[in-house]
Amino acid sequence: MDSLAEETGLLRQTAPSPQRPYETRRTFAIISHPDAGKTTLTEKLLLAGGAIEMAGAVRAKGNKNRAKSDWLDIEKNRGISVTSSVMTFEKGGVNFNLLDTPGHSDFSEDTYRTLTAVDSAIMVIDAAKGIEAQTRKLFEICRLRDIPIVTFVNKIDREGRDPFELLDEIEEQLALSVAPMVWPVGQGGLFKGCYDLVANDFLPARGSAVPCPAGLEDPALETALGAETHAALNDAATLAVEGYASFDREAFRQGHLTPVIFGSALENFAVGRLMDFIAAHAPEPRPQPSDRGPVDPSEDKVSGFVFKVQANMDPKHRDRVAFVRFCSGHFRRGMKLDHVRSGKALAVSNPIYFVAQERSLTEEAYAGDVIGIPNHGTLQVGDTLTEGEAFRFTGLPAFAPEVLRRVRLTDTMKMKQMRRGLEDLAQEGLVQVFRPTIGSDFIVGVVGPLQLDVLASRIAGEYKAEVSFEPVQYNVARWIRCENPQLLKEFIRENTMNVVRDRDDWPVYLCKDEWDLRYIMSRNKDIAFDATREIV
Ligand code: G4P
Repeated sequence: MDSLAEETGLLRQTAPSPQRPYETRRTFAIISHPDAGKTTLTEKLLLAGGAIEMAGAVRAKGNKNRAKSDWLDIEKNRGISVTSSVMTFEKGGVNFNLLDTPGHSDFSEDTYRTLTAVDSAIMVIDAAKGIEAQTRKLFEICRLRDIPIVTFVNKIDREGRDPFELLDEIEEQLALSVAPMVWPVGQGGLFKGCYDLVANDFLPARGSAVPCPAGLEDPALETALGAETHAALNDAATLAVEGYASFDREAFRQGHLTPVIFGSALENFAVGRLMDFIAAHAPEPRPQPSDRGPVDPSEDKVSGFVFKVQANMDPKHRDRVAFVRFCSGHFRRGMKLDHVRSGKALAVSNPIYFVAQERSLTEEAYAGDVIGIPNHGTLQVGDTLTEGEAFRFTGLPAFAPEVLRRVRLTDTMKMKQMRRGLEDLAQEGLVQVFRPTIGSDFIVGVVGPLQLDVLASRIAGEYKAEVSFEPVQYNVARWIRCENPQLLKEFIRENTMNVVRDRDDWPVYLCKDEWDLRYIMSRNKDIAFDATREIV
């Protein structure tokens, strides 16, 4: 038996043995509020998966071993991760594809888009804080797509809230059934370890697991804990098992139930159990929505979509990498794929795959896998790649920006560089760029103000143009559409000052505030004002 299975009973429990290569794939993300412990957990998962050899490699605060994913100066200064990346590792015959999502509240759209490329997510909650704003926001996106969620209640080595209170909060606030799987034995100074309610063993704070075949009543548990702690655990754990749902794989996979694992990323408690859980129960690649119906991972022909584009990943080699999630087929290096939007063939000769901080060439990939394709702007977010079929994957959203600014160039000789920078970074999804119908100024839209700092810093660093931002009289942006093209044309003509075009030439209506928006909507009932639009 491999070491992964040995660690736990979870794998033995119900894991089906994979028949086809894609069935070994687990493509997932970690969602959390800043500071809940996502980076620490990522690092421990990578360590457990053998993808890194040293704690601190993901984010060495001493700066020496700073991860390449922190390639932006702004990230270094602020100590936060504002771009997403992908980490692939293999353990016990399971291929884990962990897609990183920025946790800061000012994150960009590609956080949302990254979630369209995963099949499950780990929700990390700080045991002292419970559900926080950003967790809830990201959770809602997962819910929209029925993405199954495993909850990891982190930092139980510190004084935190009562575990029952936390379970009730998840259940009530997120309207999810909760199934406690790994339970804390004491907290803070009294922390003794964790009890696995499914595998029936005790994971002490120090030393190796104590099997308890007879469950909570097992004499080995009493010996390990002492009579008093054992009695307290017995009471609490019995209540946890009886008072909440038991684990139901189908309910989990449909997004109705979340298994809850209490642990500590920092101290590496229950991280192995979390990983085992993902291996055993998180879904393999799921069918993906397209305009010809769901595309099943078992289909023979290769298909995939671009969910993220990253310009200048390595500032020394000005490059642009499109991240593609495969949805079906068996991709091999050198294959010619159809780029559906342009109708042209694309030879994929240098597909990159990412092992922690390293990139290397990959020879093949299956549904669920994510590769990077270096290109010079051919590939955009939302593009579909197929093996000779003409369909498109659907459901990749663009969101109306909440902050709008006019871009000012300090040195007017640098117009070309600025344009290039804006175009590239708009394609990445860092920012939306709008062209006014009248005038030549660019208006940029972002979800949070931090993105403006990132934008200015990257245009200065990567395109050598200094830009600043000025407020505009608008705070609200909506895509407009109408079934009757003539009516839309008239509306645009009558509102020239307020209508701008996005990067795909879609008309966008800008106005001062929600009140103005409601007013214009009430006067133009045939026009739809959309806060999101699907990327085509
Ligand atoms: P994030 O990516 O979600 O923003 O969180 P990150 O992992 O950076 O963790 C935020 C802080 O919480 C860090 O402390 C980290 O060490 C701490 N932390 C993470 N997991 C645990 C845990 O299980 N137990 C305890 N006690 N602390 C945990 P910091 O002081 O901000 O940074 P550092 O100097 O310790 O790295």
